[in-house]
Amino acid sequence: MTSHRSPASDWYKTAFRYDYLRVYPHRNDEEARRQVDFLLECLDIAPPCDVLDLGCGDGRHSLELTRRGYRVTGLDLSGELLERARRRTAEEGLDITFIQGDMRDPPGISAFDLVVNFFTSFGYFREDGENARVLEAISRSLRPGGRFLMDYLNREYVISTLVPADSRTVESMEVEQHRWITGDPAEPGGHVRINKQVRIREDGAERSYDESVRMYTLEELDAMMDRAGLKVTQTYGDFDGSPVSADAPRNILLGQTMPARSARSAGQTGQARPACESKSRPGALSRDDKPAMPCP
Ligand SMILES: C[S@@+](CC[C@H](N)C(=O)[O-])C[C@H]1O[C@@H](n2cnc3c(N)ncnc32)[C@H](O)[C@@H]1O
Repeated sequence: MTSHRSPASDWYKTAFRYDYLRVYPHRNDEEARRQVDFLLECLDIAPPCDVLDLGCGDGRHSLELTRRGYRVTGLDLSGELLERARRRTAEEGLDITFIQGDMRDPPGISAFDLVVNFFTSFGYFREDGENARVLEAISRSLRPGGRFLMDYLNREYVISTLVPADSRTVESMEVEQHRWITGDPAEPGGHVRINKQVRIREDGAERSYDESVRMYTLEELDAMMDRAGLKVTQTYGDFDGSPVSADAPRNILLGQTMPARSARSAGQTGQARPACESKSRPGALSRDDKPAMPCP
């Protein structure tokens, strides 16, 4: 069995630089456009509303939402990705507030109508309590009745499709990826993670970075959200609207703040204005209507 170095507990501080964008070239504007289409079909929130893109990266979703008339704030820890986000925003003449900060404790951020968290920007911390702080931050950031979308991995799918190692050429880089799981998925409540080491060879030099994401089951995540005052109302297995299943790549969770939590948040922040009116149609998809259907 191959042995791997254990990712540092603060791997997320170094993993998200320009190399990250080059290693995942398909995570691009076109994909973001389709995902925003899906989001707006599901939640049907008319602009202008205040949107927080938590873990915004290079801003691909922030830019797309802004093009469609939303007032967007993007928050991320990575200075390099934010620099690219700001440059692209200026090039397009858009107006987006980008903040460098930690998603567990967004500085001075509250009163959003919608918080989005795309492409597995959750589960990065070693302690469950630290991951729970991200959900509490989402809850605090929302106005009463505010909505959220979390686009998270599907643990079952990750486990069943895991490719332990592969390599490919991307631009002038030789990219080698090693993936392994830690923890026992069969143990109820066990601490299960997907770990990855990415080695890059380019121009005769080698560098590497690690990733390590806590893999919660959908039920675990739902319960954590509940404790944070977030009610999950819709779940999907992919951005084509397919239902959650063992064969679906994603766990996409949509929902809104719970009334009691909203009242508390409003008291804390002094922001009592209800969230942007949703035009949600009768028959909008709900978790209770399982299996989920494609968005209308
Ligand atoms: C997988 S990327 C997704 C980026 C973006 N949502 C997208 O879909 O392109 C995860 C993002 O989370 C950011 N991130 C990691 N740890 C963070 C933290 N503690 N606080 C805020 N952002 C963080 C990374 O810098 C990175 O941009």
